[in-house]
Amino acid sequence: MAAPGRNAVSTSVVLSCLLATLLLAAGSSSAQLSTGFYASSCPELLDAVRSALRPAVARERRVAASILRLFFHDCFVQGCDGSLLLDDASGLKGEKNAAPNKDSARGFDVVDAVKAAVEKACPGVVSCADVLAASAMEGVALLGGPRWKVKMGRRDSTTASFNGAENDIPPPTSGLANLTRLFAAKGLSQKDMVALSGAHTIGLARCTNFRDHIYNDTDIDAGFAGTLQQRCPRATGSGDNNLAPLDLQTPNVFENAYYKNLVAKKSLLHSDQELFNGGAADAQVREYVGSQSAFFADFVEGMVKMGDVTPLTGSNGQIRKNCRRVN
Ligand code: HEM
Repeated sequence: MAAPGRNAVSTSVVLSCLLATLLLAAGSSSAQLSTGFYASSCPELLDAVRSALRPAVARERRVAASILRLFFHDCFVQGCDGSLLLDDASGLKGEKNAAPNKDSARGFDVVDAVKAAVEKACPGVVSCADVLAASAMEGVALLGGPRWKVKMGRRDSTTASFNGAENDIPPPTSGLANLTRLFAAKGLSQKDMVALSGAHTIGLARCTNFRDHIYNDTDIDAGFAGTLQQRCPRATGSGDNNLAPLDLQTPNVFENAYYKNLVAKKSLLHSDQELFNGGAADAQVREYVGSQSAFFADFVEGMVKMGDVTPLTGSNGQIRKNCRRVN
């Protein structure tokens, strides 16, 4: 038999390079997320999500906002891997008691109910990270916002990062530069940041997070500040958990009112008003005031990009049975 020739050797080199490239691609951040990921393993997924989420949102509309925020806080810490959903346990310090989440992140019981419905339809198939991604989309749609095809295939982490939650999630004291920097650290542009911030057209915030803005900032409508001061006493430690809507008029409707509030200097958080303060984001805010469909399109693009932040895929991580603990 003839010895392998130069051609055979170079063909095998090319094939190994190809294999290495494919393996690398498979290990990279979003290589395996796809909209059809559960098409054959769990075609009932979205129906199951809806069947559990609808009654919960009918009971309390805010819960759709709370779940959308959970998805954001999950994706910004170690990527969208369900790490936020883990309870503290021996040997595992969770993220729920980190500053941005403590006394604030909520809706975990509803995520549990959605996961239970999904487990009933397709046991052991769908990750908590994907349940959260699908629930965030469905919640937005239930409040009148856009619906989109959610990419799936994330797996659940077996770890959490308390420090990541403390450091990577932007605080409401942030200026535009800091907001832009923290989103860039997750591969998201300033444009994505401005579009995703439109999530603050739904939901509530606690006095402790807007006190400085309504008492000390000057870029705020005086009448609006006065109204809020009645709900949020000046002294730190008094009424810290009193709630006010992020969008005063329609906190249960997902539309472009958030941007109208910014232009009217009626945003609840200091960080929100930073998006319309004579800076680089002003034009985009005005665009969304004029066009809700432009906002919806960019919001969806931002959500898909945020959902792509370093997921665990392939055989990494696990499919948790109970979102609150590692299997
Ligand atoms: C741009 C930087 C952001 C900052 C500084 C920020 C900050 C905050 C703060 C301080 C609250 C109130 C929490 C409380 O008082 O308990 C809040 C609520 C909320 N955030 Fe953000 N956020 C940002 C971006 C986002 C993004 C990207 C999303 C989702 C795409 C989001 C969704 C929400 C929702 C829906 C609520 C209301 C939650 C509820 O009612 O339970 N936020 N945010």
